[in-house]
Amino acid sequence: DCQFLISPSIIAGDMTNLENEVKRAALARSDFIHLDVMDGMFVPNKTFDHEKIKQLRSITPIPFDTHLMINEPIKYVKDYVDAGSDIITVHVEVCDESSFGEIHDILRSNSVSVGLAINPDTELPLWSEKFIPDLDQLIIMSVIPGKSGQKYIESTHEKTQRIVKFLSERKFEGLIEADGGVDLTNVECCFLDGARVFVGGSAIMGQKDVRTTIIEFRKKLMH
Ligand code: DX5
Ligand code: ZN
Repeated sequence: DCQFLISPSIIAGDMTNLENEVKRAALARSDFIHLDVMDGMFVPNKTFDHEKIKQLRSITPIPFDTHLMINEPIKYVKDYVDAGSDIITVHVEVCDESSFGEIHDILRSNSVSVGLAINPDTELPLWSEKFIPDLDQLIIMSVIPGKSGQKYIESTHEKTQRIVKFLSERKFEGLIEADGGVDLTNVECCFLDGARVFVGGSAIMGQKDVRTTIIEFRKKLMH
């Protein structure tokens, strides 16, 4: 299939005016809006929390793709549901079979899409296998999470291809999201690896003309 989705990350814009960043992404007709939540513990930086997302929710109906880079996501996931997230992704590094099972059930019963994320040096843990057929999204991080503007880690291409093969043998029906250092020079490679959702921080929200940039991304992906 040739479907793909663009999910601009607003933290790469003006962090002091996230309302305006959401407007910029919406006016540029992005498919999703990627919201990087950092708690200062799972990663060194802090960004914003569910209260901010609730404020941003009224600006646009474009789906909110909430990426939780936080410890103990089970404690907070309902807050992010109530704030209006459409997809919520939690990291395997801070979950186990029991807590992710609970997170999965909370998301499903609230019609929120279910995502798992893995860091560059992490593989899918054994416990995650039973959830694979029921995952909507897998984020494969191509930078060490914590900030935007880092360089894409080249070995992620092979890792993604390997995981895509692994998942296709296990009834995965979700989408792979490439997150970290994705830009106009590598987005086509990421698509060929098997990714279908592309986060764009500095390469999209860091640009003056977000609309033209997204059009350029789409051109790279349309064959
Ligand atoms: C990294 C975040 C990414 C990041 C993307 O910690 O999860 O979503 O903001 O920004 P770029 O595209 O600049 O790497
Ligand atoms: Zn992210």
